[in-house]
Amino acid sequence: MREHGVAFPAGGPARERTGVSDFHDVAAIADVAEGEMLAVALANGASVCVFNHRGVIGAVGNLCTHAEFLISDGVLHGDGTLECLWHGARFDCRTGAVRRHPAELPLPVYEVRTQAGRVLVGPRHTSPAPSGP
Ligand code: FES
Repeated sequence: MREHGVAFPAGGPARERTGVSDFHDVAAIADVAEGEMLAVALANGASVCVFNHRGVIGAVGNLCTHAEFLISDGVLHGDGTLECLWHGARFDCRTGAVRRHPAELPLPVYEVRTQAGRVLVGPRHTSPAPSGP
């Protein structure tokens, strides 16, 4: 298990205006090694799990849709599923879709950009329809 990271430096989160949507600087790319997850908080209070799956950094909501255990305290498997350690639900890290019960609802997925060695998390994608394993 990885210790939770600090999302923002003292003085508050950096924020970048992109014209259409906002992206928030949440971590250094180096803070999210391949196969690792990191819990961060957005300025609006949302808890987000940033992960690195085979060199691709993404972000999903950090609260399991089954009973709100922290996804970042779980396991990122090689097949791209995020496993919640409390009751074993699994989610596709790319789409948030449920891949194993007992969760019924998908995780929200956030837009992510990497720039100048930093991870920027943007708005949530529209949630996919609930899906089963
Ligand atoms: S809280 Fe995640 S599977 Fe139950």
